Amino acid sequence: MLGLFPENFKFSKFGFARISPEMDNKKNFFEKISYKKNKDLLIKDRKDAGALKVKKENLQKSYNLYADLLLKYGYIKFAEKLVGDKIYPFVVMHMLNDKKTKELIWHRDQYFHGKNFIGPKFKLYKLAIYLQDTNKNNGVTGFIPKLISPRFRNRYLDTMFAYLSSFLSIHPRLSVGEAIIFSGKVMHHRPKQKNNNFREAIIFSCTNSPNNLPNLKDNENEFLNFYIKTKIDYGIK
Ligand SMILES: [Fe+2]
Repeated sequence: MLGLFPENFKFSKFGFARISPEMDNKKNFFEKISYKKNKDLLIKDRKDAGALKVKKENLQKSYNLYADLLLKYGYIKFAEKLVGDKIYPFVVMHMLNDKKTKELIWHRDQYFHGKNFIGPKFKLYKLAIYLQDTNKNNGVTGFIPKLISPRFRNRYLDTMFAYLSSFLSIHPRLSVGEAIIFSGKVMHHRPKQKNNNFREAIIFSCTNSPNNLPNLKDNENEFLNFYIKTKIDYGIK
């Protein structure tokens, strides 16, 4: 299943790459793990433009599911091939947008503001798996060409410039189970939901070594540690 990497398997000039693992019964599988019919288990995150997120208790109960998804279906293998380095997911977020969720404005997860580097001080990648067909109308992550997205060392100018050049942005059309990966330094946004096909996604924050996160190391409630244990159990290097 994972022997062949597709042609065109690389990061685009927009700073993201697409991961499309082959799976049987994709649609059924993702419907089963969906929270679309269990919205009472979600909590609104005002800091994330009102997105609805799976509560921590439920998230923890499904750590095995998320680790399996990454390891068995090959998302990690593809991601490692793309970045040319190891990939360690350290946080998992399972979330849904509905019509009340606002746009998550153009931003980078890591950037300079004056002399200060904001965000994690290590290599950061976001890996987002979409649970349904997703495009601009239901909140797929959008990107701006890296070339015309110079990094002002000022977050306000940087965001303003992103809006000025956003007519050149791209919003990939993804099918159920497809994922994208992008660096924390890349400009991106989440458009507002425009149709009834709620966007549900599982988003992993990843880095290239567990040593980047020494304070998570001994806490067994952290996804990173569950993931590492699962990886060892499966004998994956
Ligand atoms: Fe972000």
